[in-house]
Amino acid sequence: MEFTLDQLKETFAGLYGAEGEPKAYFAPGRVNLIGEHTDYNGGHVFPCALTIGTYGIIRPRADRTVRFYSLNFEDMGVVTTSLDELVPDDAAGWTNYPKGVMWTFEKRGSHLPAGADILIYGDIPAGSGLSSSASLEVLTGLMLRDTFGFDISMADLALIGQYSENNFNGMNCGIMDQFASAMGKKDCAIFLDTNTLKYEYAPVKLPDARIVITNSKVKHSLVSSAYNDRRRESETALRELQAVVDIRTLGDLTEAQFEQYKDAVKDPVCRRRAKHAVYENQRTIHAVEALKANDIVTFGKLINESHISLRDDYETSCPETDLLAELAWAVPGVYGSRITGGGFGGCTVSIVKTGSVDAFIRTVGDAYREKTGHAAEFYVVDIGDGAHALA
Ligand code: GLA
Repeated sequence: MEFTLDQLKETFAGLYGAEGEPKAYFAPGRVNLIGEHTDYNGGHVFPCALTIGTYGIIRPRADRTVRFYSLNFEDMGVVTTSLDELVPDDAAGWTNYPKGVMWTFEKRGSHLPAGADILIYGDIPAGSGLSSSASLEVLTGLMLRDTFGFDISMADLALIGQYSENNFNGMNCGIMDQFASAMGKKDCAIFLDTNTLKYEYAPVKLPDARIVITNSKVKHSLVSSAYNDRRRESETALRELQAVVDIRTLGDLTEAQFEQYKDAVKDPVCRRRAKHAVYENQRTIHAVEALKANDIVTFGKLINESHISLRDDYETSCPETDLLAELAWAVPGVYGSRITGGGFGGCTVSIVKTGSVDAFIRTVGDAYREKTGHAAEFYVVDIGDGAHALA
């Protein structure tokens, strides 16, 4: 990160005064290895927490005022609000995320006894799709829980973050991002059944490979409305399938069952959305089995198939991320590569042999710049822990 913890604490004291004992916290961003657009379709996901994320410093106040300041949005200065005025407001910019979490605490009966002064700094590249908003939500939940002594589990903090994003910020996201940020574990990915919230940590032991995230540096507009459309189309398909087969979610179907019943879905677009949700869920289950068996080749192949399905059936890729994946597939030493996250831009995730990482960055970076005019960014990442207090 660009700032040390001491610098963040000094900035906090400079803004809000030096009294009391402000506390520091961190919540990570995430990258999803496989299991995309399955988390609101009752399927499995396989994300991991990163070591980049969002830092927060908090000190409770004696009144009901809340003050926010972000080193990423210094132009906005100190944003002041009150616990009695928690309503979404476009002009409030990034503070709508922590405000949404406070609103959710109140709504679920965890009454906040007082306001707080809060400083935020995040080192997740803006617009990259690596879950800066989910990390800010989980961070806020953790800061409130610890500051005011609530008995709330980390998994519930993830649910609070998702609820606030759905109901305060109008993005109908699933649980994956907040869950990964809250529950991540160093060197492990989380194999999460989003239907039951049962999960298992799977060690990501890649003896000769690294996880490389490539940022396309493009983010197409209307992402959240396109995302919400996908959700609706999947729900339409589910309703039609439920008329012919007894299922609760698309995640309940195997590929063979889907093929047997798919004609119940009348609209071909909705049918393709459902196909992706069913096949991607099964791919995720197989990918975790492959990883556990140290079969990185199969793991990588399933990652490639995930991209193709997101490109052709779910249509959440875009020309730039398609290009990044295709360029990656052609580089020797790449086990697999696909778009990761919500889509319509953002990042790809690739599993690359350690000895090929430099060539990968050069080859993909050069060809991408030549074809699109954009300079992709590459992050060779480590898997970190979920949200926690800092010393
Ligand atoms: C976004 C959402 C997640 C998930 C992914 C797609 O990141 O926030 O809930 O649906 O897209 O897998």
